[in-house]
Amino acid sequence: MTIAEMMEKMIVLCDGSLHDINHMIGVWTYARTIGQLEKLDQETQYILEAAAITHDIACPFIRDEFGHTDHKRQETEGAVMVRDFLASLPEDQLERIAYLVGHHHTLNNIDGADYQILVEADLIMNACEKGWKLDRIFPILRTDAGKRIASAVLPAD
Ligand SMILES: [Fe+2]
Repeated sequence: MTIAEMMEKMIVLCDGSLHDINHMIGVWTYARTIGQLEKLDQETQYILEAAAITHDIACPFIRDEFGHTDHKRQETEGAVMVRDFLASLPEDQLERIAYLVGHHHTLNNIDGADYQILVEADLIMNACEKGWKLDRIFPILRTDAGKRIASAVLPAD
């Protein structure tokens, strides 16, 4: 499945929720850009972009079921849902993407560049949406590209 096919499928799943669609597109754009600037290999870049597109796949379901977006539930339900959503992918790719979707709010034990960059891209978008200042997320950033982009996007004080 190409990234563009995945993107179209995810936009359709968002069912007209502009907030969800715009958040997803923003996280994907930052993740893709940081990944390329950090020179990820092609396979890791693909995994990163797939995880960025699908990272909040459980959000509408959790909102409908529980009326709020519980982070832990979002991770556990998302890891299950993304396996169905991307079922045509090989198992090794599915396993890593499901792991990333299932841990994107978990900041301890970040075990790879794909994981770190997904966290950074989601943090930058969340900071934009919530009006956070740079210093609130800066200590979590590890990549040079993520630090440069966050510094350019978010107010310092
Ligand atoms: Fe998100």
